[in-house]
Amino acid sequence: MNYVEFKGGNCLEIKKIGVLGAGTMGMGIAQVSVEAGYSVVLIDVVPEIVGKAVIRLNQVWAKAIEKGKVTAETVANFNALLVSGTDINDFKDVDIVIEAIVEDIDIKKKVQKQLGEICKNDTILATNTSALSITEIAAATNRPNKVLGMHFFNPVPVMKLVEVIPGVVTTDNTAQVVMELSRKIGKEPVLAKESPGFIVNRILVPYMNEAANVYQEGIASAEEIDKAMKLGAGMPMGPLALADMVGIDIVLAVCEFFVKEFADSKYRPSLAFRQKVRAGHLGVKTGRGFYDYNM
Ligand code: CAA
Ligand code: NAD
Repeated sequence: MNYVEFKGGNCLEIKKIGVLGAGTMGMGIAQVSVEAGYSVVLIDVVPEIVGKAVIRLNQVWAKAIEKGKVTAETVANFNALLVSGTDINDFKDVDIVIEAIVEDIDIKKKVQKQLGEICKNDTILATNTSALSITEIAAATNRPNKVLGMHFFNPVPVMKLVEVIPGVVTTDNTAQVVMELSRKIGKEPVLAKESPGFIVNRILVPYMNEAANVYQEGIASAEEIDKAMKLGAGMPMGPLALADMVGIDIVLAVCEFFVKEFADSKYRPSLAFRQKVRAGHLGVKTGRGFYDYNM
């Protein structure tokens, strides 16, 4: 075991990172981690998704070479640091697992329990959940004091924030190690207490939901709503384009969790979200959401 001297005492030094889920977020988390020089094991249950993620990362790096931002040798090093596959047992020697799978509490609890059984005793188990209870996920494992939220933002290579969310029994050391890791991969961490949606999504998801209500009521088209919020409120992109980028299934899951957890109907999900999810129109990842991406 390697330890570094740290404010709160001795902490595990992270050398090898496991990323579970190679979708929108997992791929980005793997990218920023190898770019910061960490060895990364990227795992997904679907082999095609792992393959696509590696191809996509190499397309991004090929563009970076073209722009003169990195050399071909550096990209070869990135690839040497990245191991990918479908076998969760490949996490047996990682120092932290960052789980970025589907936003479903039962699946996350089952998978985190399994991670606890596979990983070394001192491995930190982080979840990239958008809103769910860290304490509940932690309690399903054999090491609740080493489980916490490490919440990245989409697109991961661009957005600077990571919310670090300890559960009720997470040790300060665990939180400190993850704050430090976030900085080392080029992010600005903020510490947030456990609460549905933490800081950003508590505010941002109701905003996207209200935009979907405006759309559903026929007050304006998706294009007009997004244009209005960009030009009238200075948003970098409109709320419906943002919901498409995040994944409407995820935004809906967060709204549903808010209604349940806060017992407050003000968070009631827009019918527009429900209908799009029922139709399989989840946004950019399925080619259609509020906008059509196949054109
Ligand atoms: N992946 C990787 N890089 C991307 C990217 C992507 N999807 N989209 C854009 N970029 C990069 C571009 O390559 C470009 O990099 P260079 O300057 O090095 O060339 C840079 O970002 C700027 O790109 P563009 O000029 O094409 O685009 P832009 O200036 O319009 O910015 C944006 C795009 C960063 C997405 C911006 O519109 C934005 O900040 N949107 C809001 C994003 C946001 O709110 N994210 C949070 C979502 S909520 C969440 O993530 C939490 C949750 O739990 C749901
Ligand atoms: P996604 O649908 O793009 O990817 C999820 C991946 O997890 C899929 O590739 C799926 O095959 C894989 N998966 C599902 N079950 C698995 C299992 N048991 N083992 C291994 N892999 C499994 O989703 P995403 O947008 O990347 O979101 C992942 C997590 O990150 C969710 O908890 C989400 O709420 C959170 N999040 C999403 C965003 C966003 O903007 N999309 C932002 C921050 C946090």
